[in-house]
Amino acid sequence: MAVQKTLAIIKPDATARNITGKIISRIEEEEFTIKAMKRLHLTLADAQRFYAVHKERPFYKDLTAFMCSGPVVVLCLEREDAIAKWREVMGATNPANAAEGTLRKLHAVDLEKNSVHGSDAPETAAVETAFFFSGLEMA
Ligand code: RTP
Ligand code: MG
Repeated sequence: MAVQKTLAIIKPDATARNITGKIISRIEEEEFTIKAMKRLHLTLADAQRFYAVHKERPFYKDLTAFMCSGPVVVLCLEREDAIAKWREVMGATNPANAAEGTLRKLHAVDLEKNSVHGSDAPETAAVETAFFFSGLEMA
């Protein structure tokens, strides 16, 4: 398996509960290298642009409002098989279905306030990391 980069976001429900550090510790325990990281407060326009792939979904309006309701921490993570591995560490989208020990099982509030985001494929990882970071920042 190749070394990959993926985008992780610590969502507003998690920053609000002061569990940013816990999630970053887990990222390091799982042997991801943090290539770039920053904390920022998205505007609604930013969130709408980031989640444009979900524009036609019934949850788009709520999701984009939630993602700009408080600060987020965005990270570019690198390791072998990073995209699938980070999704495994996050667990299922709905915490009710998430496996024991996953971040969403441990920390998510509900299906929307599910604490973390991860890219879902090499193409989206490339687009999503470039949305937040320059090539120089991720080098
Ligand atoms: P993410 O993109 O945040 O890593 O999550 P995911 O791939 O597991 O889930 P995705 O289908 O991409 O959905 C993006 C986010 O939208 C919210 N959601 N709400 N109300 C609903 O039915 C619903 N479905 C999804 C979740 O916050 C999900 O993470
Ligand atoms: Mg997704």
